[in-house]
Amino acid sequence: MTADKGYAFVESTKYPNITTPGQKQGLPQPPFELPLEPGAPLIDLPQPAEIDLGKTDLRTAIESRVTRRHYSEVPLTLEELSHLLWLTQGVKFIDDKRAVPLRTVPSAGCRHPFETYLSINRVAGLEAGLYRYMGSTHQLVALRLDTGFNAQLAEACQNQRHVTTSAVTFIWAAVPYRTVWRYSERSYRYLYLDAGHVCQNLYLAAESINCGVCAIGAYDDDAVDGLLGFTPPESFAIYLASLGRVS
Ligand SMILES: Cc1cc2nc3c(=O)[nH]c(=O)nc-3n(C[C@H](O)[C@H](O)[C@H](O)COP(=O)(O)O)c2cc1C
Repeated sequence: MTADKGYAFVESTKYPNITTPGQKQGLPQPPFELPLEPGAPLIDLPQPAEIDLGKTDLRTAIESRVTRRHYSEVPLTLEELSHLLWLTQGVKFIDDKRAVPLRTVPSAGCRHPFETYLSINRVAGLEAGLYRYMGSTHQLVALRLDTGFNAQLAEACQNQRHVTTSAVTFIWAAVPYRTVWRYSERSYRYLYLDAGHVCQNLYLAAESINCGVCAIGAYDDDAVDGLLGFTPPESFAIYLASLGRVS
């Protein structure tokens, strides 16, 4: 039965079956964010406290949320992108004692095992290409300024059209050791649970500013990892989502 393969994961991550985590072995805590790529240009994002995009009642946002795959050609503003990044992975403060970030989403053990990459297609003031979000400083790092990047990403996502037409596609990479350091193999459950919270925040944040989102689980893992330079098992694409202004 094919389900056996899936349940083997659950079985192997039950408490009696996991190994002693790095933290208990006295190994050093890994950094909560990847270091800056040397020489990569940094872009300041508008500060969240200064952004006023109106207010939407939470119940209205939840009730009106649907997956949207058709986007307008009107670009997103940098304020809107800043708002979306803030509400999905923004760092509210860093707990210096524990050396962990408190973000706008929950994460098992506050391990926050993700890096956020963006395939920018239509955001006013930003060239098309691949960027990474630095939550610690609320900045973007430009990694690959290339108008052809998004088409390659769409191909790696089974040619889903909404990736091609998105204003921006979010790519969340898991860096498992941040969580594995504390919870060993059981962490792999938490990675996927944590990722769900992030994408749900994106859905609701988008809904509140008249944008739409389509979560993406159907992608070629090796193609996306290869395209973004991830190095499984140390880092790999865990979830994606296309986004654009509602047409
Ligand atoms: C984990 C996950 C993966 C998904 N992957 C895709 C996808 O690859 N392509 C797509 O078009 N929709 C994808 N969706 C969107 C679902 O099809 C959609 O949420 C579902 O049909 C329910 O519709 P609603 O979101 O409008 O309520 C995904 C949703 C989730 C939660």
